[in-house]
Amino acid sequence: MQIIRDLPALRTAAAALRDGGKRIALVPTMGALHEGHMALVKAAQARADAVAVSIFVNPTQFSPNEDFDSYPRREAKDRAMLEAAGVALLWLPEVKTMYPDGFASTVSVSGITAGLDGAARPGHFDGVATVVSKLLNQVGPDVALFGEKDYQQLATIRRMVADLDMPIEIVGVPTERADDGLALSSRNLYLSDSERAVAPILARTLGEAAQRMAGGADVAATLAWAVAHLGQHGFGPVDYVALCDAASLEPMAVLDRPARLLVAAWLGRTRLIDNIAVTPR
Ligand code: PAJ
Repeated sequence: MQIIRDLPALRTAAAALRDGGKRIALVPTMGALHEGHMALVKAAQARADAVAVSIFVNPTQFSPNEDFDSYPRREAKDRAMLEAAGVALLWLPEVKTMYPDGFASTVSVSGITAGLDGAARPGHFDGVATVVSKLLNQVGPDVALFGEKDYQQLATIRRMVADLDMPIEIVGVPTERADDGLALSSRNLYLSDSERAVAPILARTLGEAAQRMAGGADVAATLAWAVAHLGQHGFGPVDYVALCDAASLEPMAVLDRPARLLVAAWLGRTRLIDNIAVTPR
């Protein structure tokens, strides 16, 4: 596995991988890798001849009051996992490589980023869209893979790539979960043992609410039940529980087309997100 930290070397290595018409996949990450990230790598290997992974904890997608400084960084372990998986190239830029002095451009996707995490974390998706644009331009992949775990992020990137005519296929990969249903996340490392024991209730609540809605229960009443249920089990505050159109992410009051049920809730000092598909009968 080639480990690359500067842009000229990345360009040369990416061009060499592409040589002879090989198909390249990119899996962008912020590191502290787990089986969710590795599911993206596997899906990438099934779709390309060579897989590149980036690890960059992107400061512009964190608000000043968020966890940029404490975000887990585990480069040696990440490298070993990617090496063992047969990844061809690891792109590890520094902040000054991505955002040199004078950096002044932002990619902003409107509409789809207005609600949910976009409302709870102002500026977050500008940071994501900007850094993902840069990573795509730097590596020049044929295909890039993103997890459904961050459903609004996936939808935002699909919109951006379509709007900006980026010649890149975007593939969404289903959420990888622990045996008890908790969606794998680098932020799960923040949970205490007692919080970790409670955390699977988030996915279970989503599942129960989705079943109720698919069975014809009133959408608003079911969302209110989910918020109350999470509160009773130690979650709080709940940033949102929302039923949204699966493609546009517009809020839905009636389940009349394919939808996504999305949640963000705090467990102690940790903010957890999750989502599942809800299909009308
Ligand atoms: P990060 O949180 O490290 O996630 C990297 C990729 O892994 C994202 O596409 C995310 O959706 C996916 N992922 C995380 N947990 C997953 C799980 N349990 N199952 C399946 N996929 C999962 O998301 C980011 O980094 C950043 O915002 C990034 C896109 C790299 C831009 O900085």
